[in-house]
Amino acid sequence: MTALADTWGINAAQFWLRGQRPDREVGYEEATGMWEVHGYPEILRALSDPATFSSNTQRLVPEASGFSEGNLTQLDPPDHQKLRKLVSHAFTPKVVADLEPRIAEITVELMDQMEDRAELVADLAYPLPVIVIAELLGVPASDRDKFKRWVDGMFNSTNKVSITGDRSPEDEAYFASAMEQVGELANYLTEHVRERRAEPRADLLSKLVEAEVDGVRLTDAEITNFGMVLLVAGHITTTMLLGNTLLCLDAHPDQFAMVRADRSMVPAAIEESLRFLSPFAAVSRVTNEETELGGVRIPADQMLLLWIAAANRDPRQFADPNVFDVTRDPNPQLGFGRGIHFCLGAPLARLEGKVALNLLLDRFPELRTDPDDAPEFLPSPNMTGVRRLPLLLR
Ligand code: HEM
Repeated sequence: MTALADTWGINAAQFWLRGQRPDREVGYEEATGMWEVHGYPEILRALSDPATFSSNTQRLVPEASGFSEGNLTQLDPPDHQKLRKLVSHAFTPKVVADLEPRIAEITVELMDQMEDRAELVADLAYPLPVIVIAELLGVPASDRDKFKRWVDGMFNSTNKVSITGDRSPEDEAYFASAMEQVGELANYLTEHVRERRAEPRADLLSKLVEAEVDGVRLTDAEITNFGMVLLVAGHITTTMLLGNTLLCLDAHPDQFAMVRADRSMVPAAIEESLRFLSPFAAVSRVTNEETELGGVRIPADQMLLLWIAAANRDPRQFADPNVFDVTRDPNPQLGFGRGIHFCLGAPLARLEGKVALNLLLDRFPELRTDPDDAPEFLPSPNMTGVRRLPLLLR
């Protein structure tokens, strides 16, 4: 699988997928102006200390600051806690568990269109989570081609974006186009928020319109930005999770046989896939003050990229980290982050993965990758996920 990482065209920056470790766990990258952190204990420490390692990274990227209001991922305590508490009502274990029949229904409808071959991403792994999150929010799932255009525009760069003043013209163009896509998605959501204010329905956007935190209601901008986080975070990552899990299983026939024979292992296979090919490869933080991480002094106001995907291969935490092992127990993988920003949608992503994988294996017991049509990965250095996975079903 390590050699396959090259053939699949995974971004070369993701050296851990080739079984390599960095020269140093914490280091400054001149080219991007950011600190790169790859080690498990170092990342765990940064994620557990939001007072020192702030999530408000947009303050160093002023062009993006228009979208920080109501963006849960950008908030620090105490604001983070207030908004998180409020929106958590929409993601209670019961709300998520109640979605199971609908997730199964959508999966079956999508599988009904498959014949002897399928392209997993286009046929199932992309539409399923988008339809689910769109229905939950209350925006028309039929607009999913638009979401795809906007979100693809945000993530299709192969370069690491730099925060230093001297961006290349290519980076500059990418950044401008990504911000344009964000703007279009924001306009689209704001229109829906205004409609819900006038006429509430039984959906998440209406709940957010009506919700109060300490007697204060959320503004249109806050709801729009939160909706945007959900729509973006809520679908491309789950798409990658489904594709990656199938790919990992297919590349390890002994493990695939085990999972096919004992479906109670499906959740463990999903956890191991999150560790082995972590879809959201990095999260970022900014230092509020001078601090030390992994024995390295980092000044205040510095941007850090925490490579959770690399930490998930840290031999100090995981025995045989480059071995895909569905029986790994415990498996404290960091694919959903850790601490106060731990992925809000993790229960939903896990449920979608479990339902879809089980139904696929029920209907297509012979399912395997197409040896004549190789999978393709997203080109972004911050994402690890298939964007095309041709399958033979019978
Ligand atoms: C946060 C990964 C699916 C919504 C996060 C974080 C990670 C992550 C790593 C932490 C970010 C940080 O610490 O800065 C993933 C992966 C997914 C997935 C790998 C699928 C396999 C979802 C879904 C939703 C969602 C389905 C929504 C329905 C969120 C939200 C946050 C978040 C709202 C921010 C939480 C906060 O800041 O308090 N996710 N996610 N994610 N995720 Fe997910």
